[in-house]
Amino acid sequence: MSRRITAVFLGSLIFSASLFAQSATFVDNVLVIPKATIGETAYSLELGLVINDNNYDFSVLAAAEIPFTNTDGASIFSEQVLRVPTVEVGGTNYSLNLALISADPILFRLSSFAEVISDPIASSLEQATTLYTNSLETQVVQTLCIVCHVQGGAAANADLLFERASETSKATNLSAFRNYLNGSAAKRTQILSKVTGVSHDGGAQLAEGSASYTNLAAFLQHLVDHGATN
Ligand code: HEC
Repeated sequence: MSRRITAVFLGSLIFSASLFAQSATFVDNVLVIPKATIGETAYSLELGLVINDNNYDFSVLAAAEIPFTNTDGASIFSEQVLRVPTVEVGGTNYSLNLALISADPILFRLSSFAEVISDPIASSLEQATTLYTNSLETQVVQTLCIVCHVQGGAAANADLLFERASETSKATNLSAFRNYLNGSAAKRTQILSKVTGVSHDGGAQLAEGSASYTNLAAFLQHLVDHGATN
């Protein structure tokens, strides 16, 4: 496998990846695996998600060999399966099994996944995700904001763009809010005033005190509590 992988990371990135081997992340359809081991060889990997029919396939976007120390927290490749112990997707932690279905080019396919139960007190991000899923994605974003805040829409040039309802839209749109906020309470206030029609070309979308406004305000507060996107 190593021969086929092109090392594209800069030396400094390799260095930091090995120093701060943390768990995998999934952002903008890229699965970043700081440490994947095959026997006693370690790599950092970036895998890109491609949906083929109903399969979740992952191709290698970037890979670099890193010094092998141990397999703590690592994704382990053996018997044609890459096992990712934990990755956070939309506030929930999952373990994934990715089966190698092609070696040239390298292609993995999601063969199974399971929720990893974390601490009982939900984190701010988990609370934000629950609120968003249950009360905002459909009721507010897909019903109101998407009319303009979408590619080709009246707000196409705004910094807050959403994706129309799809299998991935909930996660993508939650990320859009997270990126726009970037942990800033001032940005939260700005969103809340825009939606009530204050200096908003989109006019008043939500009435202050309405259920949706209250949910949006609470959701944004959880994101501020969670802190900057990282
Ligand atoms: C009828 C069209 C329309 C709708 C519906 C609409 N907006 Fe907007 N929105 C705009 C336009 C146009 C802009 C860019 C000009 C401005 O800032 O007012 C904008 C800007 C914004 C901005 C500032 C973005 C930036 O670049 O900093 C935020 C935040 C925002 N809207 C939130 C929302 C939310 C949340 C919803 C749904 C509840 C929504 N808007 C619904 C048209 C709309």
